[in-house]
Amino acid sequence: SPGARCFLRHIGAAGFRGWVRSVRPQKENLFLHVNDGSSLQSLQVVASSELNHRLLTFGSAVEISGSLVTSPSRKQDVELQADQIDVVGECNPVDFPFKIKEKHGLEYIRQFPHLRCKTNAFSSLLRIRSEATAAIQQYFKEKGFIQVHTPVLTSNDCEGAGELFQVEVSSKNQDEEGHQHFFSVPAYLTVSGQLHLEVMAGAFPGVYAFGPTFRAENSQSRRHLAEFYMVEAEISFTQSLEDLMKVMEDLFRSTTEHLLSQCPEDVALYHKHVSPGYRVRHQKYLKRNTMITYTEAINILNSSSKKFAFKTDWGSDLQTEHEKYLVKHCGDVPLFVTDYPYALKPFYTRDNQDQPLHTAAAVDLLVPGVGEMCGGSLREERLDLLKSRLAQAGLDETYGWYLDLRRFGSVPHGGFGMGFERYLQCVLGVDNIKDVIPFPRYSRSCLL
Ligand code: 4AD
Ligand code: MG
Repeated sequence: SPGARCFLRHIGAAGFRGWVRSVRPQKENLFLHVNDGSSLQSLQVVASSELNHRLLTFGSAVEISGSLVTSPSRKQDVELQADQIDVVGECNPVDFPFKIKEKHGLEYIRQFPHLRCKTNAFSSLLRIRSEATAAIQQYFKEKGFIQVHTPVLTSNDCEGAGELFQVEVSSKNQDEEGHQHFFSVPAYLTVSGQLHLEVMAGAFPGVYAFGPTFRAENSQSRRHLAEFYMVEAEISFTQSLEDLMKVMEDLFRSTTEHLLSQCPEDVALYHKHVSPGYRVRHQKYLKRNTMITYTEAINILNSSSKKFAFKTDWGSDLQTEHEKYLVKHCGDVPLFVTDYPYALKPFYTRDNQDQPLHTAAAVDLLVPGVGEMCGGSLREERLDLLKSRLAQAGLDETYGWYLDLRRFGSVPHGGFGMGFERYLQCVLGVDNIKDVIPFPRYSRSCLL
């Protein structure tokens, strides 16, 4: 079995190393479950009672030598018959926040960001996150996309929403005149790698980036972080939102199928114990999705009897409550919403020139339970239109280089960004985004 293969790989000359998940002393034998992080499954260790030790407690780190044999029990294929057990690192069970027989909820374990990798739920999450990262890289590699490492430090506010973290030299390192800027311009942590991807899309049919992204949103919500990971793709020679939606859908499906085949036990832990019944609902998301325009979305909201906290006039932005309602209304499957009001979208979004409504070629992918998971658009490739929009915003000088992209071998192109944590929330049915990232950063949190 895959479990047994993992254990074989991890039993080196020094023996089997891991952390104790259970201790069951019986009359003649001592039974342990030891987990080495390779899978959810722990290795059963059988030893003579003489090898029991007062430091052999839940959470302690051990090194065990012995022989791997076929297990007589049906619960596992193999077990380790121990000759020697060394406690490498003790773990006081009174002080350790996780208790041997208790089922701790995600909210409880979140209080211990420095220890939560020792729980089944969070170690599963970390394996899933790692596999999903590999699957995303694999997807783009197979489709011929080039990965670009877009910068974290930048002077642009790609989204124009002003949710920027500014970066300064620490006061200790400022020179005598008190010079603040290290660069000759103010520097920020990136809110999106899109503009840098657009640069590279000038020489490749497809490029992508996958890295940390920062937003100074003063939000304590279950789906916002100050630092999160974004997967972004930019596709050249495309003039249709359908092309973009196809990539979003394929990426979602192939990554999820990879997860279901590569870490079925870890995913099952979430689908059974963390969000019971989620497996069946989730299967539906892979099979079907729907598509409406923003204008249709507004009509749906306005003909609903539900009272929303935020207004639903044509021209106002869709809020989480609206997104969740729309997803439910449209069959509780992933929902593409297209053609948003031009005035709501950043300067780079392509004008649909469809007066009097005036929309832009933008698309969001909304998913059950989470709301917006991806946001994308066609980019304005027409130099004169882009120029006048930037001029109106007083940004034409700042974005001179961006206008150049439309001057030298420009092609129609578009792209999107997928919030990696929101993707994981959707696949696993996790309610709070802080539970799917190793070290969550959000406003008023302490940094570990
Ligand atoms: O919709 P957004 O703001 O789109 C962009 O930044 C585009 N420039 C991307 C592109 O076209 N290349 O962000 C994309 C996604 C959102 O749909 C959401 O899933 C996620 O990033 N996201 C966040 N995730 C967690 N915490 C936050 N504060 C987030 N803000 C956005
Ligand atoms: Mg968005």
